[in-house]
Order: sequence, then structure tokens, then C-alpha cells
Amino acid sequence: MSDKRVTTVAFGEMKRKGEKITMLTAYDYPTASLVDRCGVDSILVGDSLSMVVQGNETSLPVTMDEMIYHTEMVARACKRALVVGDMPFLSYQAGVGDAIRNAGRFLKEAGAHCVKLEGGASVCGIIEAITKAEMPVMAHIGLTPQSVHKFGGFKVQRQRDKLLEDARRVQDAGAFSVVLECIPAAIAKEITEDLEIATIGIGAGIDCDGQVLVYHDVVGLFEGFRPKFVKRYANLSETITKALTEFNDDVKGGKFPGKEHIFK
Ligand code: KIV
Repeated sequence: MSDKRVTTVAFGEMKRKGEKITMLTAYDYPTASLVDRCGVDSILVGDSLSMVVQGNETSLPVTMDEMIYHTEMVARACKRALVVGDMPFLSYQAGVGDAIRNAGRFLKEAGAHCVKLEGGASVCGIIEAITKAEMPVMAHIGLTPQSVHKFGGFKVQRQRDKLLEDARRVQDAGAFSVVLECIPAAIAKEITEDLEIATIGIGAGIDCDGQVLVYHDVVGLFEGFRPKFVKRYANLSETITKALTEFNDDVKGGKFPGKEHIFK
């Protein structure tokens, strides 16, 4: 693994070389330091923080100021990974002026290298405007969680022609890569072969150019809903519960602090 900073340009190069791209979410300094140290190419400060950090049922409530606060912490920790700021609900949908200003806040105030926003053909004007303002955009199509109420739930998206059209349109609008969320693997493969920009899959099969997952799902810290596409690599909830219960029992039972923990 090279120490060189991963850039938005590198995403395209990795696709051309057939090198898989990795991305994980992080929302704070210590977590981002760990993710960065492990050689993960990109860290997404996802609006999923609304669910996994703030305890909301959807990603809709998280605000721009909260996203900036968390992105600052992550950017401070990242030496190598590309930092992606996720534009929250209503930070870009109301118009191009808002979208440019809010994307700019991620780069100018928080230290992100690019932004991500949800939607296909319907947000192409916004992708184009942000890109023309010199800020790289990662698009996100398929199951776009900010549209959960329109979809009537978190559902796999299967309209092949629409998905292919959305993918082509976001590429033409200037996006440097695109997240494909919850779409059948065969459609994701077709999109990946069709596009010049890198596809990053989540619940979209093995043929995407890269993969992204939510940190809390990967390390077993989120006890809410676990989608089929998540692979859990650790069970930190169990480890932490055990440690905290032991601390509680030690103090209640007069076992902590021990002699080795006190000053003479
Ligand atoms: O907010 C998020 O974490 C995301 C990923 C699931 C792609 O958008």
C-alpha cells in the first residue's frame, strides 16, 4: 500500500487497472484514524450517521451543520484516504445555489475532498453545477435512502433501463464515480461495464469497481436492522458490553481501583 493520498482521479485509474476500490464510513477522529491506517481507499462521512450515531430511523433528520462537524473530525484523522462528505437531505434538492454553497462548506470548512449526493437523472443539473464550481461529485443511484418515503421503504431497486439511464446521465453530468445501492448484481455488472467512471457497490454484487459498507455494520456496533448485503467482521457490541459490565461489577464489588491504579 502506498502512502500517497488517494484522489478522485485515482478512482478512474484504479478502475482502468482492474484494482478494487474500498470505502467505509466513519464519523469521528478515532474511527477515521483506524480506517485510514488499514489502507481503506476512501472514507465516507455518510448521512447514515443519522441512524447509526444519532439513533434516528432514517437519514432525513441529520443537518448540514452536524455533517460539517463530523466531517471535520474525520478529515483531521485521514492521512491517505479520500474523504467524501455526504450531502444531507435538503442541502441540494432546493436549487443549484444552495447545492454549490453547501458542497463548498464540505470542502472549505470541513476539509473533505469531494461530496456525494443521491439521485440520478433528476439531479444531473445539480451535479453539473457543483462540478463546474470545481468540486468533485460522487453520485448515488438505486436505493437512495433520502427517498425512503417515496419508495415506501428500503427496497431493492430493479428497473434496469432506468438504472442504466441514471448511471449514464450522472457520468455525463460530471460525476467522478457512482454508488450503486441495493440493485441486482447482474444490473450492477452491466452498469459497471457500461461506464467509464468507477462504480462503488453496496448490496450490488461482486462486479462493481469497489465496495462500501457502514463501519458500524462491519464491526458489529449497530444493533438495529442488518441488511442481507452486510458482512459483519467483528462483534464489538458483545466485546464492549462484556468490558463495561466487568467495570461496573468491579466498582460495585470493591475490586477497582486496585493497588496498581492508585498514587502513593
Ligand atoms: O450514508 C451512507 O452511509 C451511504 C452509504 C451507505 C453509501 O450513503
